[in-house]
Amino acid sequence: MKDIKFYKLLVFVNALVPLALVGWDWRRGHLGANPLDFVTRTTGTLTLVFLVLTLLVTPLRKLTGANWLVRLRRMVGLYAFFYGALHLLCYVWFDKWFDLAAMAQDVARRRFILVGVLAFTSMVPLAVTSTDRMIKRLGGKRWQKLHRLTYLAAAAGVLHFYLLVKSDVRKPLAFAAAVALLLGYRLYASYTKGATPLSLKAQSPPR
Ligand code: HEM
Repeated sequence: MKDIKFYKLLVFVNALVPLALVGWDWRRGHLGANPLDFVTRTTGTLTLVFLVLTLLVTPLRKLTGANWLVRLRRMVGLYAFFYGALHLLCYVWFDKWFDLAAMAQDVARRRFILVGVLAFTSMVPLAVTSTDRMIKRLGGKRWQKLHRLTYLAAAAGVLHFYLLVKSDVRKPLAFAAAVALLLGYRLYASYTKGATPLSLKAQSPPR
């Protein structure tokens, strides 16, 4: 894949589109009766969508042999973290007005907040170790082990979503099915080893 720069640019620009649309609708007052709630929910959903897309890269490249996909993964993962940080900021700012005591109370009393904190916290080491320097410093094997935290972040994100919805659980269940399928594939591949083309086995940590 020669033109990876173009694909990176494509992903970079497209991943900003939802944010631009929310900003545009905000300016025009089209975010409904509770705009802050809308933005919190949208950024939460985007976090989960980008986590799922991150998890999709390995199965896709193993099944299709399109190794170059791995070079887009870091950016997609960083977008998950970016939208997660915006989501957290919405909560800290618009929901709690930076009131630390109220936030601590929320974490202690509401299970879905606690699980959300777990999901976000597990994404921090992933973002911090995403640079080439950190990959080198940690070494490929350790880096890959650490990056299994993505599984925890996705699973906790889904549980957070499931716990917060009051009646219609269809959306969280759809995300749960996607995450289960993607993690199940990994489990299957690690047992059979057959799903991994030889060309992929010798690869160093993905860039
Ligand atoms: C410190 C971490 C987090 C806090 C405090 C937090 C808090 C919240 C709050 C207050 C809501 C709105 C609940 C409501 O309107 O009833 C929400 C919704 C949501 N959050 Fe989080 N969250 C956190 C992390 C995450 C993470 C890491 C993810 C994804 C991996 C995520 C995904 C979602 C989703 C999907 C929704 C619901 C969207 C919808 O209703 O369509 N959250 N979160």
